[in-house]
Amino acid sequence: MKILNVQASAGMDRSLTRKLSTHFLECIKKCISHVVIKELDLVKDPPPLMTPEWIAGAFSQTAISEELQLALARSDEYIKQIEAADLIVIGTPMYNYGMPAALKAWFDQVARINKTFSFDLSRGDFPIEPILSNKKMVLFTSSGEFGFETGGVREEYAHLVPHIKSCAHYLGVNAQKDLYHLGIEYQEFKDKRHEQSKSEAFAGIDRIVRLIC
Ligand SMILES: Cc1cc2nc3c(=O)[nH]c(=O)nc-3n(C[C@H](O)[C@H](O)[C@H](O)COP(=O)(O)O)c2cc1C
Repeated sequence: MKILNVQASAGMDRSLTRKLSTHFLECIKKCISHVVIKELDLVKDPPPLMTPEWIAGAFSQTAISEELQLALARSDEYIKQIEAADLIVIGTPMYNYGMPAALKAWFDQVARINKTFSFDLSRGDFPIEPILSNKKMVLFTSSGEFGFETGGVREEYAHLVPHIKSCAHYLGVNAQKDLYHLGIEYQEFKDKRHEQSKSEAFAGIDRIVRLIC
């Protein structure tokens, strides 16, 4: 199995999402004999932001200049990494109720017309279709506050997991059936609820590993 391990927490050694991801990868290595892991640390090596050259290159209908090719080089590299992966692990904190900027920048680099999605107005109101398919995603999140689930007290502030689910098809992941999520909450409260949330998330890893193995 080929795994792309995408990490987005600037908390580094203290990060809960990095710890969850590391534990998951240790467990999966025990249960599958041949695992190849490609590490992608978006904090140590942040993705570039969109530029006019990127847009011009990505949407060009004809051969593009060396300058535009260069503007798309990192996008090409990220897409190759996704194409090669069977499973994508994402470890990400909630920052300001959504994704860290580095993770959003990565999604911006990989959502690319005629590479990861096609666009056809003859499809009516849903012209976008993914090009990649059959990949699984394991998503680990952590937040300082709590109640971001459907019906939760902060449902309206939940822009992290729903956003990633909306973008998962660019990675060839069907979010309804192939995306497994575990999240830790209450980190800023540092109380029993946080300890319980942490224990439940780590305990949940076994179940996901069994489903994937
Ligand atoms: C810059 C920054 C912004 C944050 N914004 C939020 C937020 O909007 N909502 C929230 O619940 N927690 C927020 N937090 C708390 C983190 O989500 C929490 O500490 C989480 O455990 C970080 O993940 P990590 O342990 O993997 O680094 C924020 C933390 C930082 C450093």
